[in-house]
Amino acid sequence: MLPKTAALILALLLPVPALATVPMPKVVETKCALCHGKLGEAGSDELAVLAGQNEKYLAKQLKDFISGRRKSPTMARMVRGLAEADVDALSRYYAAQKPPPHKITDADLHAAGRFLFQKGSLAPGAPSCQICHGEKAYGTDFAPRLAGQHAPYLERQLREFSQRERTNDNEIMHTVASKLSPFDIKALAEYLATLE
Ligand code: HEC
Ligand code: HEC
Repeated sequence: MLPKTAALILALLLPVPALATVPMPKVVETKCALCHGKLGEAGSDELAVLAGQNEKYLAKQLKDFISGRRKSPTMARMVRGLAEADVDALSRYYAAQKPPPHKITDADLHAAGRFLFQKGSLAPGAPSCQICHGEKAYGTDFAPRLAGQHAPYLERQLREFSQRERTNDNEIMHTVASKLSPFDIKALAEYLATLE
């Protein structure tokens, strides 16, 4: 009885451990927040949501912007002067945030997008997206998270993959995206944006 009570009292007296939060790197406020938001929510839906994106994917994209493998004049300026430790800290920070919610704007388009994501377009050689991006589009170490990403950003990336304008690791996604029609792209983006 006594030891139990003592243990309980001790537990109550001990400080509550703080929730594990990842500290915000300074450069978020001085640079990144302008376009991607302080919490990675990206105020403009033309820009990439970084919140909840896979840490390894974020680090890889930042390194590709630094080396010039992924070409973007804007991001080339933004990554100038970032050290490897900054890349790691930024990736860890944004990966730990929660992506913003999106509402369904067209239920029919949304249903078509779900079909395409889960089963593919049924065109010869067109794979389903979920075999690589995962059932809930949370991604893996290898493929990015798509759930909760802004629809216009997704649409632009799919067009750029298809036209080989997204210059890094274009091969897989070029093959996938070149089989998508403009309707497929709209439907997929509508569906993926609303996943949480
Ligand atoms: C002036 C606006 C602007 C600022 C500020 C900015 N970015 Fe970007 N960012 C962009 C644009 C535009 C793209 C899309 C590039 C493309 O078209 O491929 C992008 C893409 C990215 C991507 C790739 C996202 C994905 O899903 O593939 C990452 C990661 C990223 N930015 C991180 C950062 C970080 C970290 C900072 C701060 C050091 C930053 N950005 C500052 C405009 C900006
Ligand atoms: C065989 C695996 C595979 C399949 C199938 C696949 N993807 Fe991808 N996808 C990838 C990989 C890997 C990347 C990251 C490329 C890189 O590192 O730049 C990617 C990147 C993307 C991006 C860029 C995300 C961002 O944040 O910029 C989008 C959008 C995307 N895929 C959508 C789709 C859709 C929609 C489908 C189905 C029609 C699909 N993918 C099917 C592997 C795949």
